[in-house]
Amino acid sequence: MPKLGVNIDHVATLRQARREFEPDPIAAAAICEKAGADSIVCHLREDRRHINENDVRNLRRTVRTYLNLEMSLNKEIILLTAKLKPDQATIVPEKRQEITTEGGLDVKKHFRKIKEAAEFLTSKGIAVSLFIDPDQKQIDESCRAGVNMIELHTGQYAAARTKKQLGKELKIIDNMTRYATQSGLVVNAGHGLKYDNTRTVSKIKNIAELNIGHSIISRAVFVGLEKAVKEMRRLV
Ligand code: PXP
Repeated sequence: MPKLGVNIDHVATLRQARREFEPDPIAAAAICEKAGADSIVCHLREDRRHINENDVRNLRRTVRTYLNLEMSLNKEIILLTAKLKPDQATIVPEKRQEITTEGGLDVKKHFRKIKEAAEFLTSKGIAVSLFIDPDQKQIDESCRAGVNMIELHTGQYAAARTKKQLGKELKIIDNMTRYATQSGLVVNAGHGLKYDNTRTVSKIKNIAELNIGHSIISRAVFVGLEKAVKEMRRLV
């Protein structure tokens, strides 16, 4: 059974809509943990559109499970991550204008930067994961970069509309999970997962954790955060 990481970015998105104090992502994290989340995930973006460093500092003090910070290869963010000391740093690509993370890291293209960042964060006692597309070359490059954990981007699967497409994308994730596991990597997955497409992914052997945010926070608006997390926990 994979673990469930709940991404709480969009609690902060709602707060930032008014630049006020509520809803509080720190309180949200505690509710998620009570409801069965195995880890709390957040993304400290360069433009601070939702989570800011003060949130991460407070989460570091209050999270009882495991804190996974998504972060880019920006130098300031790397140094901040080392200071904030999450349990895990997941390196993601980041573009200023994107609505959400649009694809996985190109590990080959940014190899040196990724390797250096991974070594630096590891030396600070932080576990490092790379967010990559389910692609054999990216998995090979991740191994070469010296990390032992990846997160496979499930966005293509989530965007599939026909049964045939869904089956094809699911098979790719399944095959790449097997390949990465055989290469010695711990495999997590996430992005775009919802209440109606998560169960099939969670059945893939060897996926250690699913990281889910937007759909859980969206459902929480109607049924409350505790219930929304519990429902997803059941599916995973
Ligand atoms: N995993 C990673 C690496 C992400 O960047 C995100 C989005 O912040 C997620 C998982 C969660 O995606 P979603 O909000 O679509 O569930």
